[in-house]
Amino acid sequence: MSFVSALSLASAFLAIIPTVVAASSAKTACSLIEKQYPKQYADSVLELSDLALGVTYTDQLHAYWSQANADNIPACMFFPKTAQDIAFAVQVLNNYTDVPFAVKGGGHNPNKGFSSTKDGILIATEPNMATTTLDSNNYAHIGPGSRWIDVATALDPYNRAVVSGRLGHVGAAGLTLGGGLSFLSTEHGMTADTVVEYEIVTAQGEVTRANKNQNSDIWYALKGGGNQFAIVTEFVLETFPIGQVWGGHKIYTLDQKDALINATHNLISNYYDTKAAVIVTFSTTLDSLVDIFVVFFYYNSPAGPGPILSEFNAIPSLIDATKGPRSYKDLIDDNSQFSLDGMRYLIRTGTFPNLPGADGVDLYQNIFNSWFDLAKSYQRKQLDNYVFSLAYQPMPYTLQSASVNAPNGVNLLGLDPAHGDKVFMEYDVSWLLPTTDAAAAADLTNITQPAQNYARQKYGNSRPTHWSSGYVGTTNFNPLFMNDAMYNQDPVRSYGEETYERLRGIQRQRDPSGLFSGRTGGWKFT
Ligand SMILES: Cc1cc2nc3c(=O)[nH]c(=O)nc-3n(C[C@H](O)[C@H](O)[C@H](O)COP(=O)(O)OP(=O)(O)OC[C@H]3O[C@@H](n4cnc5c(N)ncnc54)[C@H](O)[C@@H]3O)c2cc1C
Ligand SMILES: *[C@@H]1O[C@H](CO)[C@@H](O)[C@H](O)[C@H]1NC(C)=O
Ligand SMILES: *[C@@H]1O[C@H](CO)[C@@H](O)[C@H](O)[C@H]1NC(C)=O
Ligand SMILES: *[C@@H]1O[C@H](CO)[C@@H](O)[C@H](O)[C@H]1NC(C)=O
Repeated sequence: MSFVSALSLASAFLAIIPTVVAASSAKTACSLIEKQYPKQYADSVLELSDLALGVTYTDQLHAYWSQANADNIPACMFFPKTAQDIAFAVQVLNNYTDVPFAVKGGGHNPNKGFSSTKDGILIATEPNMATTTLDSNNYAHIGPGSRWIDVATALDPYNRAVVSGRLGHVGAAGLTLGGGLSFLSTEHGMTADTVVEYEIVTAQGEVTRANKNQNSDIWYALKGGGNQFAIVTEFVLETFPIGQVWGGHKIYTLDQKDALINATHNLISNYYDTKAAVIVTFSTTLDSLVDIFVVFFYYNSPAGPGPILSEFNAIPSLIDATKGPRSYKDLIDDNSQFSLDGMRYLIRTGTFPNLPGADGVDLYQNIFNSWFDLAKSYQRKQLDNYVFSLAYQPMPYTLQSASVNAPNGVNLLGLDPAHGDKVFMEYDVSWLLPTTDAAAAADLTNITQPAQNYARQKYGNSRPTHWSSGYVGTTNFNPLFMNDAMYNQDPVRSYGEETYERLRGIQRQRDPSGLFSGRTGGWKFT
């Protein structure tokens, strides 16, 4: 074959099967990383020359909460140790513009392709960037590969804590970039509100810092705006003094539903003590083999729960695993037992107002009952071990107020205590088989609709201070919580038009060649 015909054959081939191009340039890009960092690189489990790398590869391939992400086999994995290492990878990516990539923290985001990549370069910040140190200003310097238990373990000897995730197993990076809800949020706001500074690698592959004075646009955007602005290589968070606390979980049977819903509604309606936090969850399996409430409790005192939790504590439980005094670290570590890897999952979010009085109880009942009925019917229809769960996560005005007033906050979500108490609903589904993925996504989407329709129809017009036309998230009044959002929701748009446009402008200006917007997963700006 002549050179010319080989060339034209090749170019015809390339035009027809562009993924082949990506695969071959991915190979080249990977080899450049391997050449520079042979000890921090793996492209298969069989790293025969270095067994430890093979083990790290296998670990990271499966270190996802939802195993659907482990189906995305990357062309190679890079295990950076420093910001400079990540900058090098970005420079390589900038030279191979058809190679996809993903940055992975704790791997808890279930949306497929957000922290996993098929045939691209996976930048796994675990295990080499997972340390936390405390500086002389009492700021915690947190590596992006840290999980909250790593952070709490490092801070525990100093009797300090950050506004961390509530389950120790969850990753610090993703949670902080999505805002972050914590047991400490009623006292100090959301996790992102406490970030003093980020060390970042820009889309151009430069290591720099983002704070109030330097790269302040990126500092602003990272406080709940997601992963489309920069790669964070260190989070610098305020810490707060912490002593021994009280908490843990209790398990209740379904017949305590009315009492638990009332207690939840009463707590959110009169959240007078910011030391208290709860998450009220319910899970249901096929044939109701497991139909239980798991309520997570927290109270920031060694002396046990304050009176604000007494309505909850008067409800008879099946299992009571609360205790105190215990360390904060011990509490969030213990909660990790509820983060079960190995299944396929999706999460969806919904923000509702906490209406006063009987209306509020009525709405909470409708949220539960309409979801429960559909959960049962989907379980009978699908027969792939569907487990559905929901969670009421209080967003009382006291929490919103702490967020708005946080000295390092920017309030991207547009929270306004004057708009009243809210609840961030979280809806989960788990299943086993890849062939169920599409049905699970449709069912989780549908299961949340009846309560939204009910709320809009029955209460939409009568409570303009709580929500107006923006009930499903088109105004500032009921922003969607990014950390619990499903890929087909649009949390950034729900922050309000003005914020969205500002974030969009920053994204376009900082990433003109589309490194993030075109080549990695996440919530996009259109
Ligand atoms: C069991 C469980 C419990 C949870 N509990 C809480 C809770 O208490 N409070 C709360 O707010 N949320 C909670 N969440 C939601 C959680 O915050 C999100 O799923 C979050 O995205 C997880 O972060 P991660 O680092 O583990 O995930 P990953 O999947 O690793 O990353 C999530 C996203 O962040 C991006 N990212 C990761 N690292 C970086 C980086 N260094 N730079 C730029 N982008 C990066 C990824 O690309 C991806 O888009 C929970 C989730 C689960 C499954
Ligand atoms: C990217 O390409 C430029 C131009 O060819 C080259 O100078 C640079 O070294 C490359 N960067 C990396 C990290 O390979
Ligand atoms: C819950 O509150 C409603 C409305 O306020 C009330 O009618 C009902 O009796 C309460 N149920 C329980 C179990 O507390
Ligand atoms: C889910 O909703 C979609 C669109 O609203 C609809 O077409 C579909 O029939 C619904 N599916 C189920 C199982 O209810």
